[in-house]
Amino acid sequence: MGEAHLPIALGKVLEMQTTPRPLTSRSRAASPRLAESVSPPSPLSTYQTPVNPAPPPTNSDWVSTGHLPTQSVVQQLVDGAHQRFAGVGEGEVADYIPALAAANPDHFGICIAASDGQLFAAGQAEQPFSIQSISKPFLFALICQAIGEDAAKEKLGVNSTGLPFNSVLAVERSGEGLSNPMVNAGAIAATSLAPGDSAEAKWAFIEAGFSRFAGRQLEIDSTVYASERATNQSNVGIANLLSAQERLWFDPEISTDLYTRQCSLSITTRDLALMAATLGNGGRQPVSGDQVVDPVICQHVLAVMVTAGLYETSGDWLYDTGLPGKSGVSGGMITVIPGKGGLATYSPPLDDAGNSVRGQLTAQFLSERLGLNLFASRPAT
Ligand code: DON
Repeated sequence: MGEAHLPIALGKVLEMQTTPRPLTSRSRAASPRLAESVSPPSPLSTYQTPVNPAPPPTNSDWVSTGHLPTQSVVQQLVDGAHQRFAGVGEGEVADYIPALAAANPDHFGICIAASDGQLFAAGQAEQPFSIQSISKPFLFALICQAIGEDAAKEKLGVNSTGLPFNSVLAVERSGEGLSNPMVNAGAIAATSLAPGDSAEAKWAFIEAGFSRFAGRQLEIDSTVYASERATNQSNVGIANLLSAQERLWFDPEISTDLYTRQCSLSITTRDLALMAATLGNGGRQPVSGDQVVDPVICQHVLAVMVTAGLYETSGDWLYDTGLPGKSGVSGGMITVIPGKGGLATYSPPLDDAGNSVRGQLTAQFLSERLGLNLFASRPAT
């Protein structure tokens, strides 16, 4: 990455982008031949069910997931990943939020939380750091629970932008101000939907929800919060743009501030593993037993993580791991292993898209060795 990490690299990307013509139903209908022969694309949820409308979505009794290997195998491979990747020297610590630049690039923590609450850790798994963008799937889950997953989808969008996490173009391009809740625009919009008619009421909702995912009371890292607040102009710009497009449901500055607060929550790799495991355990926190969100909401959150959790490199990530993941610029990453648990890593040096280098290597290694890839199958015998 360049001198001021992330913004320069991302600025270059933005310069090169052009606005593609959306393949909307309107643009297709303009061609009479197409209109006659091809139905315009439409979200599945808009199709009418002809008879006996289905009850609200729910989990089937049947699920497609299994369980982790034995405890000793998991611990050996977690230790093995730590040994293997601790010496990797690539990537740069983010400094566009000045407080993040103080992170120790050698810190490297790994933790797997199994769905039954067992923990397998190596390295600095208890080192605190700010959650940053890893807050996004948890916020989205809480908003889905509060307003319903269909309303959340309709208001925020769930399609990948293929663009950097702080892209303004992603919001303008859709023509409707839609992106997805894994990028800054969608996450700020989601924050504005938090229940409550004051900043403090909304914050109480967000803080309580995140703490339930972690199974302990979380606190803000006040140094990171102050640092990001002082350098947050691009997020305020995104919030104002959303507001102009009627895609924000509260005051732009307050919504951005609440988003910044949640990004500044201090967590550890161990916390994140349990939070990820909650998303992979039908919304039930494996240690506290708290049912934080409904099972069906986890499915929707994981779907958006798969398509957009690592921004413009989400395809590379899915190809390599076959699992939903989410990164943050402080160097944390989560990988959700549906039915089995959650993996979290902490290692501050990032690639150009803002994703932890050692975190990605660890997730790929453990996905392969622990047999976690959701797309894996064997020929029938
Ligand atoms: O809004 C920001 O720029 C940060 N609070 C979070 C960005 C982030 O973590 C992107 N992730 N890789």
